[in-house]
Amino acid sequence: MLIEPLLTRYLRHVNREYLTFRDFNPETVPSGHPEREYLLYIHVPFCEQLCPYCSFNRYTFREPVARRYFTALRREIEGYRDRGYRFTGVYVGGGTPTVLPDELAATLALVRDLWPVREISAETNPNHLTDDIVGILKDAGVNRLSVGVQSFGDELLKAMERYHKYGSGSEIEARLKEYNGVFDTLNVDMIFNFPTQSEAGLERDLDVLEGLPADQVTFYPLMASDSTERQIAKTLGKVDYRQEKRFYRRIIDRLLPAYRASTAWCFSRQATMIDEYVVDYDEYVGVGSGSFSYVQGTILANTFAVDDYCAALEGGRQPLLARKEFTLLERMRYDLLMKLFGTRLDRRVVRKKYGSAFDEMLWRELTLFRLLGALKTEGDTLVLTPTGLYWWVIMMREFFIGVNNFRDLCRSRLNDGDAGHTA
Ligand SMILES: C[S@@+](CC[C@H](N)C(=O)[O-])C[C@H]1O[C@@H](n2cnc3c(N)ncnc32)[C@H](O)[C@@H]1O
Ligand code: SF4
Repeated sequence: MLIEPLLTRYLRHVNREYLTFRDFNPETVPSGHPEREYLLYIHVPFCEQLCPYCSFNRYTFREPVARRYFTALRREIEGYRDRGYRFTGVYVGGGTPTVLPDELAATLALVRDLWPVREISAETNPNHLTDDIVGILKDAGVNRLSVGVQSFGDELLKAMERYHKYGSGSEIEARLKEYNGVFDTLNVDMIFNFPTQSEAGLERDLDVLEGLPADQVTFYPLMASDSTERQIAKTLGKVDYRQEKRFYRRIIDRLLPAYRASTAWCFSRQATMIDEYVVDYDEYVGVGSGSFSYVQGTILANTFAVDDYCAALEGGRQPLLARKEFTLLERMRYDLLMKLFGTRLDRRVVRKKYGSAFDEMLWRELTLFRLLGALKTEGDTLVLTPTGLYWWVIMMREFFIGVNNFRDLCRSRLNDGDAGHTA
């Protein structure tokens, strides 16, 4: 259908304004609301070796740099206690958060000392699924572990430059089976629509997932910022969004109803699984280099350079790079995007927050989505239809590409390509 490429083009255009930051080097962060619960996102931007398709904020691991970084991270976290924040959920993402398990454990111990944390998610790579590291994570209170797999196909793993780092598809499968059941939720991260990926390869990946079976599977559509797209084209081929829908259909057909869609691209086997944090929490604080926060309608971005980040905290300053205050319409659009990414939006909740303005200002979007079959109504709740699920994959893919383009812009101002370690 013509509508999906049009939606992509429209979103690229809209996101350019939506995600443009004009207010650089702010000095302060808003205080926490005493009655609200926030999510704390902790970013660990180091990986032993970098993957060519990845557009997240990550740098090659060097131990002294990473140890200095973790110390700065803990200082930044302590600052949020003084600002009155109360965190009940924690998500540690990367990069590879488990590059230094002792530092990660010390950081999580600090967080649990400071706040009544109920759930901790952490990301890792298959080579860190070992008794030692898993034991440290369990003791540190991690209850959801997310393992980056991407595919179980050896040819694709080689094309992604992951085979030599994390082993063959069957080795990864064996490790996942070994640690299945250790955490409340074991999530497996996969990517679809990768250049060179075939439909037959995707079916084989789904066969392996079915046989595990994983508690939760997150199937990311390949998301390429402008620079990552050029990088991928050089070594792997052109990113083609036209086949994405076909792949997504197969994923949905195979995973549902054994799994339920907890977001448009995350599928869980039980109702109690911990899902994507942006859906469950209205507001979150990001700590670490290049992390984002969303509080009181304001997006804040931390500095991307690791040296700058550490130096700021060592000097008693906030490591902030930029901020953007959303207008009322932008806030409502952000909530619409995030809540429906979680497949449902309770109108009573948004009316409580925005009054009648929500329906008055978003009626065009809501009517259009309904007329085009993306949304249906269940009482007071708006629910994504199967068509809507795929549209939200496109919307979130474009949102993350927009964020990654901003990241690329900031990182291009650093002195050396893999750097972050330079000022
Ligand atoms: C940023 S990584 C961090 C955790 C770990 N280093 C890993 O590789 O899984 C988290 C997940 O993001 C997804 N990811 C990375 N680059 C991506 C891209 N360009 N498009 C879509 N998903 C991507 C992968 O599924 C990956 O597992
Ligand atoms: S995909 Fe994971 S391991 Fe690869 S560079 Fe990105 S963050 Fe690092």
